[in-house]
Amino acid sequence: MVSISKTKERHPAFYADFLWEDDERIGRCFPEIKQVFSGKYLETFVLPGKDHMVLLVGCGKQEEVGLFQVKELFAAAAAKCKDLGIQKCSLGSAAFLERLGERAVTQAVLGLGLGGYEYEYRKTGEKKTWDCEFLLEETEETPISREALEEGEELLNGTLFARNMVNTPGNRLRPLDFAHAVAEFEKDADIELQILEYDQLRQMKMEALCGVGGSSEYLPCMVVLRYKGDPDSTENYGLAGKGITCDTGGYCLKGAGSMGGIKSDMAGAAAVAAAVHTAARLRLKVNITACLPMSENRISRASMLPGDVITGYGGKTIEILNTDAEGRLILCDAAAYLVKDEGVTHVLDIATLTGAVAQMLGNTIAGAMSDNDEFYGILESAALRSGERYLRIPYGKEHENMIKSQVADLKNIGADHCGTITAGLFIREFCGGKPWIHLDIAGTAWCGAPTFAFEKAGATGAGVGTIYYLMKEAGCCGQR
Ligand code: BES
Ligand code: ZN
Ligand code: ZN
Repeated sequence: MVSISKTKERHPAFYADFLWEDDERIGRCFPEIKQVFSGKYLETFVLPGKDHMVLLVGCGKQEEVGLFQVKELFAAAAAKCKDLGIQKCSLGSAAFLERLGERAVTQAVLGLGLGGYEYEYRKTGEKKTWDCEFLLEETEETPISREALEEGEELLNGTLFARNMVNTPGNRLRPLDFAHAVAEFEKDADIELQILEYDQLRQMKMEALCGVGGSSEYLPCMVVLRYKGDPDSTENYGLAGKGITCDTGGYCLKGAGSMGGIKSDMAGAAAVAAAVHTAARLRLKVNITACLPMSENRISRASMLPGDVITGYGGKTIEILNTDAEGRLILCDAAAYLVKDEGVTHVLDIATLTGAVAQMLGNTIAGAMSDNDEFYGILESAALRSGERYLRIPYGKEHENMIKSQVADLKNIGADHCGTITAGLFIREFCGGKPWIHLDIAGTAWCGAPTFAFEKAGATGAGVGTIYYLMKEAGCCGQR
């Protein structure tokens, strides 16, 4: 556990100093290390003193350091503190505040919290715990506001929740376990929460969600979250997140080599749950209704088969051609529910939806689609603030035609190629013409090895920051 607050006084025993590349202070204050530390980006060096230690963190070139780099630099500092077992550390933050303003505080807090993150694996034997109190230094010229600290803390809390959920093994997080974990997490925020259980979903005729998960021993469910931060507004942002707690592929079974990360197929739902919590805790002036369909995708005697035809919520018929294309099925019921029952004015869906997007963009850029430039514009500025990268993928009528079926309204896969586009467009069919954004985080939700200093192998927390900032910007920057 780490705690993060601000201070006017440097901690006498341990202090982290951030230095630009070839900073003249390196020669002046620390001449003895000039040979081994030059301030390169993410370089660290510990200077032991008689009764105190200084951690030097290299920041590289000033002009190359933005908010994203602040998050990485503070993560690197936190990781070093963890290595050293440091329990209290103050950190110089003035240079970043001067250059980037208070937004740097939020990123610094996130970096500090994520840099030493580790999922609590269930290993027997000695448990290594690490607690640290971080103190961000403020000065007369660069004060730190409570709001900026709070935003960082809440975003961190949300991101950690999302990571923990996604890292949890599938046998410890069945759909209902996931729903209860979300309910527990949302408790301390002003959010109305409802869990629709399987019998209710059947009665409501959610055939797509029930078709994917209904034959599993561990039945599907759907969590609905409602946050009313702007009662005077008629706008209501609908968020749908894919919550497949394990994706075997069903009868279109995945190969053993593709089953590595199947427990992480609920990262979209985790990101939405986390972002709504963050938005509500920070009292954003916006209305949000989130719908999280949760389900396994397995094989049993009653599982769906290719060739089956089902009716999605709201009435469109769907020909199942591949049982491994299950994410779009559970999300089409969620999107239709948001539009029909909750009257949302916008729809955003987020999902680990296609392997194709990871093939195209790798682990650091996610795919995005939208049918509304204004709505997508907000996403773009939100992504600039969160530091996540999305590529907007174009589409045309020819792609819409690819998912038309001869035996039903739609089929759940297109022909070969452009699998990411047809998957997204399938969900769009259920959004009732509302402005729509689709985020495919199949490549970014999980990393085999960390790329950035604020990552750990496993869940990344993809989507949390961007959805939170999207809600903040959509609500006219909220109340702050
Ligand atoms: N959850 C997977 C997509 C995925 C693949 C996520 C790899 C993360 C890593 C999704 O349900 C799936 O299986 N998609 C298929 C679609 C295909 C059958 C049209 C895919 O991408 O192969
Ligand atoms: Zn699948
Ligand atoms: Zn899946």
